[in-house]
Amino acid sequence: MTPIIKTISDLHKTLEPWRNQSIAFVPTMGNLHAGHVALVQHARTLAHRVVVSIFVNPLQFGPTEDYALYPRTLDQDTQQLTEAGADLLFAPTPQEIYPRGEAGTTTVTVPSLCDILCGATRPRHFTGVATIVTILFNIVQPEVAIFGEKDFQQLLVIRQLVTDLCLPIKIVAYPTVREHDGLAMSSRNSYLSTEERGKAPLLYRTLCRMRDAVVIGATDYERIEETGRNELCAAGFSPEYCVIRRASDLSAPQVGDRHLVALTAARLGRTRLIDNIQVIL
Ligand code: PAF
Repeated sequence: MTPIIKTISDLHKTLEPWRNQSIAFVPTMGNLHAGHVALVQHARTLAHRVVVSIFVNPLQFGPTEDYALYPRTLDQDTQQLTEAGADLLFAPTPQEIYPRGEAGTTTVTVPSLCDILCGATRPRHFTGVATIVTILFNIVQPEVAIFGEKDFQQLLVIRQLVTDLCLPIKIVAYPTVREHDGLAMSSRNSYLSTEERGKAPLLYRTLCRMRDAVVIGATDYERIEETGRNELCAAGFSPEYCVIRRASDLSAPQVGDRHLVALTAARLGRTRLIDNIQVIL
């Protein structure tokens, strides 16, 4: 069974004898699914040891968001991590991570990237993510950390914080793992009703159509975005955004750009879903 460690001092003691080996790190908020398992299995191929964290980070949830509801399934998660070959699970309490309370902690903000797209509707979200990831990186001190491309904006925020703060950690992106009908795996999919679950794959199909339009040469991005938004609205989604951006920094694309990404965030009933597809020309 993968051992569970709850305090920073116990984690340091356990990691001490591993310091002459390489450590790969997979931070999560738990309620693990096949997407997380794929990250852990990939981590196994990158380093001698694999450390996973499970921490539902209060700092990245807004006051009206689902922090209290977020599924906490530690027993099932530990079982999956054991099968996937994780060497250690770090599962601290909020008090362990934020001893001065969340409001009293030092935070990390990545300018510009934290404020657009998901950051526009979730104002403190990426500061919460950047802060916890920096704290966890400093505690675990891995050589490499693995993040899913499903959270594309989060991935860019983390890449930028690692560069700007000169952290000696390689960030590895892992492709989005999807259900058989294309829906991106997410812990929040469990919030969907049966009817909503039937509609949810439209998010992926819409992004595929946007990608295909760009691949065959369309450059009127605003029109492609509008068609995508209309398609989502017609199916009962409330899109927050449905856009094509530069993959490097999520700025507006220019004709001639060769690496783009189509991204969307949309509510279906009470559930907020996000997804993206990269477009390489
Ligand atoms: O992607 C997630 O699960 C979280 O945002 C992360 C990176 C573990 C930080 O809490």
